[in-house]
Amino acid sequence: MQRSAGIVGVGSYLPEKVLNNLDLEKMVDTSDEWIKTRTGMWERHIVGDGEASSDMAFAAAQAALEMSGLDPMTLDAVIVATVTPDYAFPATACLIQDRLGARNAGGFDLSAGCAGFASSLSVADAYIRAGILTNVMVVGVETLTRITDWTDRDTCVLFGDGAGAVVVSPVAEEEGILAHFIKADGGSGMHLYQPAGGSRNPATHETVDKRMHYIRMSGQDVFKGAVRAMVEGAQAVIQKAGYTEEDVDLLVPHQANLRIIEAVRKRLNIPPERAFVNIGRQANTSAATLPVCFEEAYRTGRLKKGDLVCTTTFGAGFAWAANLLRWCI
Ligand code: ACO
Repeated sequence: MQRSAGIVGVGSYLPEKVLNNLDLEKMVDTSDEWIKTRTGMWERHIVGDGEASSDMAFAAAQAALEMSGLDPMTLDAVIVATVTPDYAFPATACLIQDRLGARNAGGFDLSAGCAGFASSLSVADAYIRAGILTNVMVVGVETLTRITDWTDRDTCVLFGDGAGAVVVSPVAEEEGILAHFIKADGGSGMHLYQPAGGSRNPATHETVDKRMHYIRMSGQDVFKGAVRAMVEGAQAVIQKAGYTEEDVDLLVPHQANLRIIEAVRKRLNIPPERAFVNIGRQANTSAATLPVCFEEAYRTGRLKKGDLVCTTTFGAGFAWAANLLRWCI
């Protein structure tokens, strides 16, 4: 039997340590002015010594679970969207499942770069709609600063760390998650990747010496791809659910660059007051940007029960994903 699924709890966690543009000026040849005007960022949160993705993910998941009012024993699955797990294996989702005391839940990680959370939300929705699972914890978490080359000004100014989580459960018909979109262009994969550490280039002294474990990115290719794809994703989910851009109460775009967000928003004809932006304080936290935005938008009253919310994301792969949902808390 088909049923509707929606977000019934939301939480987030940002590390205590903050690195601002003036700090970056002391590390590489950059300026506060360049970073602000080219990216819209002025500070970002950075994990502390010994802090890992599962620590942030657990804190965010715990907050989401508390808001949902559910017992951890009623969770059926934990899905963690990340490209910076604690380990290649076991999955970070299993570490969270254990720490939450979700003894009846399964768990797996999903890797789709910055599109990971939107993709994971579609997986949770599909499981619940199909009647296979009932309560699913979906987390987006990244510690990108652990794979950031702090000598490369092209990339090191762009990223921050953080986690956000939502609990997805059955909700009344016509509420909750209404439509999804996923797409990929693997031919562009080498525009944004981590060259070593996987089976293609296992870790050796040479890969470390050549700095191959850090993010490599062709910024302009990512930029162009992001604008096109994020517009496509948003339009697809809005149309699929039978709405128009005018019906959208809040656009929650992936936070990669303020200029990308503005270009997408303008092409969708959505006014600034109906788009959520927090990139200035958090930079790009990849798979975590959407749930971190959800939590802040909900807490500050920008997201209210009944609002029509459109997400749209783009990242490594290239992979892009979008969701349309009726906010139900
Ligand atoms: N400080 C000062 N100057 C810099 C810096 C820096 N941090 N980084 C680059 N520059 C210089 C370049 O060297 C170049 O100098 P030149 O003209 O003398 O050659 C100049 O600034 C312009 O460089 P561009 O790459 O053309 O700058 P652009 O306006 O494209 O901005 C940026 C670069 C911010 C990386 C942009 O392309 C971007 O945001 N791309 C998307 C990347 C992204 O978001 N990746 C994250 C993962 S994927 C995702 O989340 C979508």
